[in-house]
Amino acid sequence: MTKKALRKELSKTGTSKISPQEILSASERLFDSQVSWRRHLHMYPEVANTEFKTTAFITDLVEKTGLRVLPIKMKTGVLAELKGSKPGPSIALRADIDALPITEETNLPFKSKHIGCMHACGHDVHTATGLGVAHLLSQMRERLCGTVRFIFQPAEECPPGGARPMIANGALKDVSTIFSLHVDPSVPVGQIGLRDGAALAAAIDFDLTISGVSGHAARPHLCVDALVTGAEVIHSLQTIVSREVDPISPVAITIGQFHSGTARNVIAQTAHIIGTARTLSPEIAKQLPVLIKRTAESICAARGAKLEMKLIADYPPMINDAGVNRRFARGFERLYTGKEIITTPQSLGGEDFACYLEKVPGAMMRLGVQNKKIGADKPWHHPAFMADERALTVGTAVLSTVICDALGVLSDQ
Ligand code: NI
Repeated sequence: MTKKALRKELSKTGTSKISPQEILSASERLFDSQVSWRRHLHMYPEVANTEFKTTAFITDLVEKTGLRVLPIKMKTGVLAELKGSKPGPSIALRADIDALPITEETNLPFKSKHIGCMHACGHDVHTATGLGVAHLLSQMRERLCGTVRFIFQPAEECPPGGARPMIANGALKDVSTIFSLHVDPSVPVGQIGLRDGAALAAAIDFDLTISGVSGHAARPHLCVDALVTGAEVIHSLQTIVSREVDPISPVAITIGQFHSGTARNVIAQTAHIIGTARTLSPEIAKQLPVLIKRTAESICAARGAKLEMKLIADYPPMINDAGVNRRFARGFERLYTGKEIITTPQSLGGEDFACYLEKVPGAMMRLGVQNKKIGADKPWHHPAFMADERALTVGTAVLSTVICDALGVLSDQ
């Protein structure tokens, strides 16, 4: 059927709505292009805040699709908009675009060409899926009511992250619902995972600097030992978890780095403690920086040392809207009737998509990429992380379906 004939047919039946089957067929047709985009991104990964070529690649493709690229005051990242032919709500889709400082250890023909840099968290799949949705929906522009905002966000992996700058640049202006995705190597390809409410944790990243008084190892009474004070602080921070917060709510405080001292026989002048605290509770997320500071400060005061605390990141917990998840579930069931939806377990991992969810209702679906036969079962951030690319079609079809549903243009059949 020609386009003209199709339009005539639609106006005759009185419906110009888009069916899930039509979306699925269009997603399948995009598969080869999406694989080539994804492999290109995988071969040339860029870490947080240096995604210059990635930004140019995305900009070029969305412009070719006919989307309007919106101006932003950021070094990297792309904000683009697709306007339907009729007015309606504004819906956003967020895909993150940054890679990790990891050397890839796979034998894939499209293995990273940037030594020490790898898409080991699947953000190449997220970007290629977002580009696929942009292509698919732009083909159906005439039947869309409202606006779809595409947020290709940089620096998800590196706090303070790219979400807040994107929001400050108007990414959520007039947006009523936001959707996102993250690949999941524990979910078989062809399936998705959903979780209502708090799915990921608040991440409070902090640096502590303890300043003491240096001197000879044999004369500790004339010094203030920053190293011993630091050790006491590290030890006491764990007592916050066991004694100061409600034990019904899981909390983790992890010190990942402790640097102090210069020589065996010199008392350390300074100590640097680098850590992160995690909780699923918004209330405890507010308490934790206060408790960490109070504990560290009081120990330093007791030993005559000084403390400086810097908050590097304070991502809120990622709280998925149950209504938006129901839309995801409905969309998936209409596309893939009878296939089970997995309930994603809670995790104390952090994700700056949480920042958008503080402002507007939305949800992140987990996109299954697991296929043990091809080795796609390694956890995120593993040097041999892989994804079954058939997930590109599932992700594109589900996201396009839920966006059409939210715009009120999805057919009932
Ligand atoms: Ni990630």
